[in-house]
Amino acid sequence: MQVAPGEAASWAPLRASGDLHHTPDDRPTYHASVSVYLDHAATTPVLPEVADMVAEAMREVGNPSSVHARGRAARRRVEEAREDLADALGARPAEVLFTSGGTESDNLAVKGLFRHARDLDRARRRLVVSSVEHSAVNDSVEHLVHREGAAVTWVPCGRDGVVRVADFAAAIDDPDSGGAASVAAVIDMWVNNETGIVQPVAAVAALARERGLPLHTDAVQAVGKVPLDFAASGADALAASAHKIGGPIGVGVLLARRDAPIQPISHGGGQERQLRSGTVAMPLIVGMSLAVRRAVDSRADEAQRVGSLRDHLLAGVLERIPGAQVTGLWEPGDVLRRSPVHAHVLLPDCQGDSLLFLLDAAGVACSTGSACHAGIPHPSHVVLAMGYSEQEARGALRLTLGWTSTEADVLDCLAALPEAVARAQRAYAATQLRAAARGA
Ligand SMILES: Cc1ncc(COP(=O)(O)O)c(C=O)c1O
Repeated sequence: MQVAPGEAASWAPLRASGDLHHTPDDRPTYHASVSVYLDHAATTPVLPEVADMVAEAMREVGNPSSVHARGRAARRRVEEAREDLADALGARPAEVLFTSGGTESDNLAVKGLFRHARDLDRARRRLVVSSVEHSAVNDSVEHLVHREGAAVTWVPCGRDGVVRVADFAAAIDDPDSGGAASVAAVIDMWVNNETGIVQPVAAVAALARERGLPLHTDAVQAVGKVPLDFAASGADALAASAHKIGGPIGVGVLLARRDAPIQPISHGGGQERQLRSGTVAMPLIVGMSLAVRRAVDSRADEAQRVGSLRDHLLAGVLERIPGAQVTGLWEPGDVLRRSPVHAHVLLPDCQGDSLLFLLDAAGVACSTGSACHAGIPHPSHVVLAMGYSEQEARGALRLTLGWTSTEADVLDCLAALPEAVARAQRAYAATQLRAAARGA
């Protein structure tokens, strides 16, 4: 790759090898010699057979709630998809609620569990939540705190990225916060979206159950990556999303036990057990069901294949970038305690977002992993919760692999990284100098 001296690289879509990209005023900004997609945790390319199935299903007409033959045909396809999806995830068909994605599933579980508990017993207003959740959970919790009188106890996380069961127990039972009798729900994600670290969901669910409390788990990054069985996990509710596993964007699922104490958060036609009103998206649902089936059936083999690419990538980063650290626990070959697709590193003396920009210009698409609010990058709350400093957290880079990833992607990324890091470090040093001069 070449970034023309003095030119800003562009966020324009990646181009194929050798393509020259032009900005609106026709200035060439970069010459991408590689095109590497390492942002599968953000979204994955759709599996071709899934795209074909969605396209075919979109040509059908019929609202699954209609009673005529076309409606019944659409309903049949939804119910077949529900059965297959339930089977793949260790759930019963009646436990499957179709939604628009992971965000909606998390909102429904968090708000629905809280409101149900609070309405039955005004003293139950506390949510006990791991400190490494996705914003779909965190922002739902914050909403309840600011608007609906909820209280929250955040459960700390170890340097290895794991939230301890004993810390959940201490948080739930904390007498100063009202003990277990004040808790509405317990929330612990299955796999962290930034680091890929697997959380002890089954043990936390057992702990919650002993105290008669419901547990919700966000498994958006877990399905198809690590072994997952809803019934065996003991969770009351579980969120998943199709587009993280080769399915279409805009569809997901909330698995909810029949007795899960959830209130609906939207109202209308009463679809999906009265918990999620709205016409069910038959074409997206059949596509999701196929993607889940493929992801679950190929999981064990893919975990080995992609896990060894991840190990190569992480080892390569450590070898090439002095001072780089792998975030949290990582043992080469271990695809059970850390998702096989996640490589998350902290690179010294640079800002992850400028690194991202430079890597993009080099044809490597990746992420820092943390949300950027209104264009302002913030150090990741996950990395901070693990005990790293703000300075360390600012250098976070998330490289995530998936079904299209190859050894060539890893080699291309590793080839582009040293120069991108060196440039990001120079940019960071210049910013520091300017800040020092302003302060002097
Ligand atoms: C852990 C986690 N939860 C929830 C979501 C939101 O899912 P969706 O994009 O389907 O709304 C994501 C997406 O990145 C995620 O990684």
